[in-house]
Amino acid sequence: MSKSAEREITKLRDQIRHHEYRYYVLNDPEISDYEFDQLVHRLQELERANPELLTPDSPTQRVGGQPAEEFPKVRHSAPMLSLDNTYSVDELREFDRRVRDLAGREKVEYVGELKLDGLSMALTYENGVLARGVTRGDGTTGEDVTSNVRTIRSVPLRIDAKKLEVIGSPRVFEVRGEVIMTRPAFENLNAQREAAGEPKFANPRNAAAGSMRQLDPRIVAERRLDIFLYYLTVNGRVPLGEHAKVLDTLSKMGFKVNPHRRLCRSFDGLMEFIQEWEPKRESLDYEIDGIVVKVNDARLWEELGTTAKSPRWAVAFKYPATQATTKVVDIRAQVGRTGTLTPVADLEPVDVGGVTVSHATLHNMDEIERLGVKIGDTVLIQRAGEVIPQVVKVMKQAPDGREFRMPKKCPVCGGDVHRSEGEVAYRCVNAACPARLKESLLYFAGRRAMNIDGLGDKLVDQLVGKGLVHDAADLYSLTHEQLADLERMGDKSAQNLVEEIENSKKAELARLIFALGIRFVGERTGQLLADHFGSLDKLAKATEEELLQVEEVGPRVAEAILEFFREKRNLAVIAKLRKAGLQFEQKKARKAEGKLAGKQFVLTGTLPTYSRDEATRLIEEAGGRVVGSVSKKTDYVVVGADPGSKLDKAHSLGVKTLDEAELLELLAG
Ligand code: IVH
Repeated sequence: MSKSAEREITKLRDQIRHHEYRYYVLNDPEISDYEFDQLVHRLQELERANPELLTPDSPTQRVGGQPAEEFPKVRHSAPMLSLDNTYSVDELREFDRRVRDLAGREKVEYVGELKLDGLSMALTYENGVLARGVTRGDGTTGEDVTSNVRTIRSVPLRIDAKKLEVIGSPRVFEVRGEVIMTRPAFENLNAQREAAGEPKFANPRNAAAGSMRQLDPRIVAERRLDIFLYYLTVNGRVPLGEHAKVLDTLSKMGFKVNPHRRLCRSFDGLMEFIQEWEPKRESLDYEIDGIVVKVNDARLWEELGTTAKSPRWAVAFKYPATQATTKVVDIRAQVGRTGTLTPVADLEPVDVGGVTVSHATLHNMDEIERLGVKIGDTVLIQRAGEVIPQVVKVMKQAPDGREFRMPKKCPVCGGDVHRSEGEVAYRCVNAACPARLKESLLYFAGRRAMNIDGLGDKLVDQLVGKGLVHDAADLYSLTHEQLADLERMGDKSAQNLVEEIENSKKAELARLIFALGIRFVGERTGQLLADHFGSLDKLAKATEEELLQVEEVGPRVAEAILEFFREKRNLAVIAKLRKAGLQFEQKKARKAEGKLAGKQFVLTGTLPTYSRDEATRLIEEAGGRVVGSVSKKTDYVVVGADPGSKLDKAHSLGVKTLDEAELLELLAG
């Protein structure tokens, strides 16, 4: 062991911790990803050469170890309480009055914080090093999910001594906070799951909670979870006397603390904060469901005490429900674009946060069973952002509740309904079912697809009903006169729509591929296919082997693509789209320069520091291509821990293999 290696290791770890903090906690990086990666790479190299210097709190050790068998149960140092809810200014005033009465004070200061919609977590640090992460569980006992918590990059694995001084350098302290998934991370995850034919998560909170329950930390690491801390105890006590100071101190110690908080000197000031955030919350890139109000004077906390479940010194103010209860009047099957029959609940109309809701999706038969919902039941529904309202749970069963059964015949065309083995969904088998046509037109015109603004539900109904449109390509031969003749269409809107349709011809190839509505081909896969093949014709002619070369394309997706292009009707539509002048070629030429130009890579196993996405990005930025399976055309197979059969294939074909360090050398070279 050399002294200089030890010094360099210490220095690198400090640097990396600092840059992790800048990037993941402050969202304000000081160096490029590439420079950061170089530091990590150098540290790894040194740690490999000096294994005796490797410590679990090294930034290279976030994702480690084998998948857990189960999570050990751990008793909390003090119960993890939940919060009482208030729903109106009056209820909040009532809380304030109770606090002032109990405290015997005229005026009490409050801290307003965002109520983050995730799962709560307790982190224990021993000698400045993260020792344990435990879920809330039943409040008394939670599950030890330390190896998962370590993968959250905004969680410091160690706090240096200097920063510990501010809280008196205790041997042990505990912080608590909320683990969340941002909306972009959530959408990305769901898109991947959809493409893989896996069930999607209903909302970011479920996705975060589901991820934390994963036994394999490598999967958790890919989920991009985040955390905000809002509670600190040292030797079982809340230090510093004031909650606002605790939050500032947590932040100074390097923890991620939500910046949207306010110390309010009066009740009116608190109300201002609450009202300010009601409209603004939509602009956050994570979900909140209200504001948490906490008494600032922490010495009062003990005096006020707790009820069985929640503290008397804090309360949640919930924003006017995005949830409401109402009655299920009927359940019927709605036919979607792919012929899937989705059960939809018809509801007694109810106001949900300012929007009248009269339908909610029930997703599929498994979901109906899980909820145990019957026609006539009173249910809790919820609406979030732009997604279709959902049924959350049954509030009251109807004594004469009627069970919903999936129809044997399609409710729209009378065609047979089938459920394939191993699939959750029921499908109408009639490819010419008008419902399928309508839905596929709406999908084609959708914002994420060809983005034809103004082509809505009612219009599509008329276009299909009048026989003006038989497939998506027919949209391009609609005339101004035909459109102006339709109900609720003036001259001006007809003109606008013609222009919108014309404009959509310029949409990029990736959008067109997505718009075609091939099963399992979502936005991201559409982009990957466009990047890989560069033209629709090449994609249409691709063999299974060629399709499997595309990153993220597995056998199911490949089969769906082949099936789509085997279908004569689809080929006819594509021919019409070509005539209409749509973009069949990728406009942007693929990178022909860069160190790795023309080189084909395959990734297998888990790399020590890079996620798959990150490694792919690095290779692509250098002009290389990453494909899904090894062939004679593959130049390099990058091998991580627990490689799959791709490594065997590489050996048998004599393809060169690289580990992460060698890949980085190649990139630097
Ligand atoms: S304080 C005793 N602060 O809401 C203190 N909780 O409905 C209780 N939550 O279990 C926690 N944001 O998981 C607190 N800024 C915040 C919060 C927050 C979200 C969660 C937390 C808690 C639940 C209670």
